[in-house]
Amino acid sequence: MINRIDHIGIAVRSLAEAVKYYEQALGLKCEHIEEVPSQKVRTAFFDVGGTHLELLEPTAPDSPIAGFIDKRGEGIHHVAFATDEIMAQLGQARGAGVKLINESPVSGAAGKQVAFLHPKFTFGVLTEFCAPGQSH
Ligand code: CO
Repeated sequence: MINRIDHIGIAVRSLAEAVKYYEQALGLKCEHIEEVPSQKVRTAFFDVGGTHLELLEPTAPDSPIAGFIDKRGEGIHHVAFATDEIMAQLGQARGAGVKLINESPVSGAAGKQVAFLHPKFTFGVLTEFCAPGQSH
């Protein structure tokens, strides 16, 4: 079951400049910055009433985020739904004919397990499922 929107992922060229915008223009506070090697990104998180913004800066030219920015520019990259049963959610999506990017969860930021659905099958919105990680 999907519990809520966990976060919205936003692709940016410069994390430093984007963090400055969210802090200075919107008055939000950056919670933490973390590099996620598996996704070749550096991320910055903002808590907005329990839903988070996840800013994503590419750390390599072959980062998926670099490809996204080249093709579509900066902006909303994905929507992440929180679920306690990530494999069940993937199974439900697969059963409904959706192509999966991740057949099983991979390690994301903040120790979470994450998996993505292919945007060609989700009306253009890259869709993430995320669940709390096993380790603490
Ligand atoms: Co995400």
